[in-house]
Amino acid sequence: MCGIVGYLGKKNTKQILLDGLKELEYRGYDSAGIAVLQNGEFSNFKAVGKLVNLEEKTKDFKTDGFSVGIGHTRWATHGKPTELNAHPHLGESSYVVHNGIIENYATLKKELQSSGITFLSQTDTEVIVHQFEKNLKISNNPFEAFAKTVKELHGAYAILLVTKAEPNAIFFAKQGSPMLVGINAEDEKYFASSDTPIIGHCTNVNYFEDGDYGYITSSEIAIFDKDKKRKEPKFLTLLQNKLSAQKNGFRFFMEKEIYEQSDVISDTLMGRLSENEIIFDEIDKTLFDGISEIKLCACGTSYHSAMSASYLFERYSRIKTSLEIASEFRYREPVMSSDTLFIVISQSGETADTLEALKMAKASGLKTLVICNVDNSSMVRLADATILTRAGIEKGVASTKAFATQITVFWMLSLYIAKLKNSLEDNKIAKQISLLREIPSHVKVNDDLHERIKRLSKRYLHGHGFFFIGRDIFYPLALEGALKLKEISYLHAEGYPSGEMKHGPIALADPELFTIALLPKHLHYEKSKSNVEELSARDSTICAISQIEFEKADDFVQISECRDYMLEFFEMMIVVQLLSLEISIRLGNDVDMPRNLAKSVTVE
Ligand code: AGP
Repeated sequence: MCGIVGYLGKKNTKQILLDGLKELEYRGYDSAGIAVLQNGEFSNFKAVGKLVNLEEKTKDFKTDGFSVGIGHTRWATHGKPTELNAHPHLGESSYVVHNGIIENYATLKKELQSSGITFLSQTDTEVIVHQFEKNLKISNNPFEAFAKTVKELHGAYAILLVTKAEPNAIFFAKQGSPMLVGINAEDEKYFASSDTPIIGHCTNVNYFEDGDYGYITSSEIAIFDKDKKRKEPKFLTLLQNKLSAQKNGFRFFMEKEIYEQSDVISDTLMGRLSENEIIFDEIDKTLFDGISEIKLCACGTSYHSAMSASYLFERYSRIKTSLEIASEFRYREPVMSSDTLFIVISQSGETADTLEALKMAKASGLKTLVICNVDNSSMVRLADATILTRAGIEKGVASTKAFATQITVFWMLSLYIAKLKNSLEDNKIAKQISLLREIPSHVKVNDDLHERIKRLSKRYLHGHGFFFIGRDIFYPLALEGALKLKEISYLHAEGYPSGEMKHGPIALADPELFTIALLPKHLHYEKSKSNVEELSARDSTICAISQIEFEKADDFVQISECRDYMLEFFEMMIVVQLLSLEISIRLGNDVDMPRNLAKSVTVE
């Protein structure tokens, strides 16, 4: 996702900005840019693709003496990854960089356009700089104009703005997206959206809080809170270890990514929910014209999210849905008919089997859609339409936040199709949308829960295997729980439909067989409970996950109160992810890079 850097001082500003952006590369991006204000003049450079392209463009540009500069790596959300959409964005004599989403940008843009302002990009960000300059013309005071602008923005943001009207300052604001300033003994000031770019340059760091805004010069740090009260910065000693800075204090990237799920799901939902309909600006409704079946195709975790989608599509959209494991689909000479929409799902957009399946579907003349986390990936370039999951870069080989955002997209898509096909009444769609808004709070990791799972994990290190069981959409979640555990603990685990255990696997039941039972209160509770009781009667060791206390279990993990089964799904997802993580840590495994696995499987 996007990254921000800023610098104010006498050193080589260009190099400091480029080096800072390089430190943020791991977050993923598709274009980058910098703007430097020196001796009253701006220099601005932007490039699509990797940072080497920006380096190439700036190779003849030199910065000497005092200057202020801002830089940005962009992960496209509003508008394609083009140079015009890359940050920094220019007004008449100011530049801005921004992370987050300005939710009221369309209204502000309309007003600015009607007063004669021309916009160059499709981004939400560009309104910030024009709004600032509009306010500056009225007040003639750059700080007042900036403060007024910040108050007029709704949404999430981390903003840096530089202007010829105040050439010795950088203006900043933070709401919902991270931003910090670092200092050192040489009176330099470094801004960034995370620690890594300033490590090695700064000794102390102030992390801005939501609602903070202000300006910084060589001699002054002026921070104001949301009530316009001036406040003192709280400088902390900066940790000097880059890898742990990237992990934000978490032991592993996987752990960090589990904790990030609340934020990334908010990003996935942002701008896509209205009162009673789902908005996917990126797809054309005609994609669904003449479609009477959906075929979902993917590998691994993405296949599990596809399977989850099949329940939602049939339940809410009332559309026939079939599932394909990509590696199987390729060689079984499938029959394809043109009334089928072929949907591929992939975190990376590069998985060889899924990519080949997509090519086959295209060659057969099917309409295609990709649900993907990486813009500009091979699948995104090939498919007719794309919905991006906005999970940000996922480093842990065991996928967590990519899965969570895929499920979120599928839940939205099932309602989008339901609206098109009139398969669900408006009030029911509105209710589902209000549930979607609740996901971020249900996936926030609670310290007590994590602690409980940490303690519990020591009882699940041996034994002859695990069964994760669930019914309906909790079956693909069971499959995903088992896959997570296998990948990073190297213990044998299977996902199974609860009702199917008695048709064979129950023969394995004994105290050394661990059953992780998913028992949602709002979906087939009684049926699932009986299936677990059958296992309990045969002395399998049972760990039940539910809202409702279950006395037949050896261990019980209680999730918070949820008013719908899909919210229970997300709560249980966190539990199975944490359980795998803690078992793997206890076994001393490399959680982020498990043996024999690669993050992106680009071979058959
Ligand atoms: C998930 O934990 C796995 N590492 C793996 O199953 C993965 O989901 C699969 O290889 C598909 O990858 P993709 O989503 O990038 O296509």
